[in-house]
Amino acid sequence: MSKEKQQVSRRQFLNYSLMGVGGFMAAGLLVSPIRMAIDPVLKKTAAGDYANAGISVDDITTEPQRVDWTIEQVDGWYQSKPSKTAWVYKDDNDEIVALSPICTHLGCVVSWEGNDQYPDQFFCPCHGGRYEKDGTNIPGTPPLAPLAVYEQKVENGILFLGNAISRKGA
Ligand code: FES
Repeated sequence: MSKEKQQVSRRQFLNYSLMGVGGFMAAGLLVSPIRMAIDPVLKKTAAGDYANAGISVDDITTEPQRVDWTIEQVDGWYQSKPSKTAWVYKDDNDEIVALSPICTHLGCVVSWEGNDQYPDQFFCPCHGGRYEKDGTNIPGTPPLAPLAVYEQKVENGILFLGNAISRKGA
C-alpha cells in the first residue's frame, strides 16, 4: 500500500474554501425567490369552504328564489371575487334545497318558471331544457342530468353555501 500523501496547496485550499462559501451563499439567495414562485401553487385551495349566501333561513320559502353572493378566490397568484348563484327553497320536509342554476346540457343559466308554458319547472332558454322543482331533468329535453346541489350549512340562522355537487349518474 502506497503511503503517498495528497498534498493540498495553500492556493487549492483557498479555492475550495471560496467555492464552498460562494455556493452556500448562492443557495441562500435562490431559496427565497424559488419559494415565492412555487408557494401560491402549493397553497391549499378554499375548496370545501362555505360562504355566506346572504339570506336568512326564515326568508326561505317553498318557492324557489334566486340568491346571489360572491366568494374570495385565489388561483395561484390571481385573486378574484367571482359571483355565485343558487336557486333556494324549502321542500315538503322543511329541508333547504340549494340548486345550481347551471344547465347540465351546455352550461346556460336556468330560471324558475322561466317559460310561461312550463309552470313549476326550471327552464333553460338556450335549447329548451327543463327540470322539475327538485332539479331532476325532464326526459325528452336536452339535459341528461339533474342540476347540481350546493353543499350547505346554517349558522346563526344564515344560510352558507359551499361547492355545487354534480348529480350526474345519480
Ligand atoms: S344549455 Fe340548457 S338546454 Fe342546452
